[in-house]
Amino acid sequence: MDIQKISVIGGIGKDGIPEKVTRFDLKMGDIVSIVGPTGCGKTTLINDIELFANKNTPSERKILINDEPIPDDFSFDPSKHPIALISQHTNFLSDLPVGEFLEIHAKIRGAENIEQMINETLNFANQLTGEAIIKETAMTELSGGQTRSLLIADAVIIGNSPIILLDEIENAGIHRTKALKLLKKYQKIFVFVTHDPRIALLSDFRIIMKNGAMQKMITTNEEEKWAALGLKKIDDVMLEFRKFIRAGEEITDNVFNEQISGLASSYQLYLKKRKLFLNKKTA
Ligand SMILES: Nc1ncnc2c1ncn2[C@@H]1O[C@H](COP(=O)(O)OP(=O)(O)OP(=O)(O)O)[C@@H](O)[C@H]1O
Ligand SMILES: [Mg+2]
Repeated sequence: MDIQKISVIGGIGKDGIPEKVTRFDLKMGDIVSIVGPTGCGKTTLINDIELFANKNTPSERKILINDEPIPDDFSFDPSKHPIALISQHTNFLSDLPVGEFLEIHAKIRGAENIEQMINETLNFANQLTGEAIIKETAMTELSGGQTRSLLIADAVIIGNSPIILLDEIENAGIHRTKALKLLKKYQKIFVFVTHDPRIALLSDFRIIMKNGAMQKMITTNEEEKWAALGLKKIDDVMLEFRKFIRAGEEITDNVFNEQISGLASSYQLYLKKRKLFLNKKTA
């Protein structure tokens, strides 16, 4: 099936009241975030998408592909299912070595250059993790972050799924903005459930959830994109401190001052650029 567009038609929240967002569309290349407090229904929303809900789930949402609902008796060939869901809880499944797991998947998908595909997948995954994943390691022995990095890489490269749903990858300690950057190169639909303001602001739009319902939809404008850049500076400093801590170093006055004054001066520069840009726009 050639997917150009997926639409989510709003249903009801936990209290049975219709959702305020009555519809949103996802086109190839779109990156979307789902945000909101714990228990507000974020996972439920992406599960509805994965299931191609057709008013047959508690939320009564309807998913359309290219403006058409999926017939009830329709079933995808599992090896060609267009949606990959990287879920919040990934306790593994298989004690095969990583290399064999990927090989089987590549064969099911009918890939030609299996060896090359496996290497590409590992290479992608290893850009997201701290400790490299090795082909010989059993899937069950990977850490949470390694597992999810591998599943993302597998979905993008071997699965070549047009729609990829990611549930809170930030908690797995993977390099999330690098992930976003890598993923942007692929013309796919990415839906992130996230508590990370940077992922939300790097998305094309975000859906705000409350009490099981889609409450609001915000498109990321120029001002917010600048805010994302400013947050990156703060995030980068946090990452530097994390590196120091991980390496067993002490955060002395010197180390602290050096990092913070570096942030201060690069922030001055950023604020100037931002002002110039935003003034130009209003002038
Ligand atoms: N529209 C809805 N109608 C009925 N029940 C719902 C609806 N949305 C969510 N729920 C129920 O609310 C509970 C919490 O939802 P969910 O797990 O999706 O929240 P979450 O935002 O993913 O939470 P967390 O941040 O902890 O992962 C679940 O039991 C789910 O079935
Ligand atoms: Mg959840």
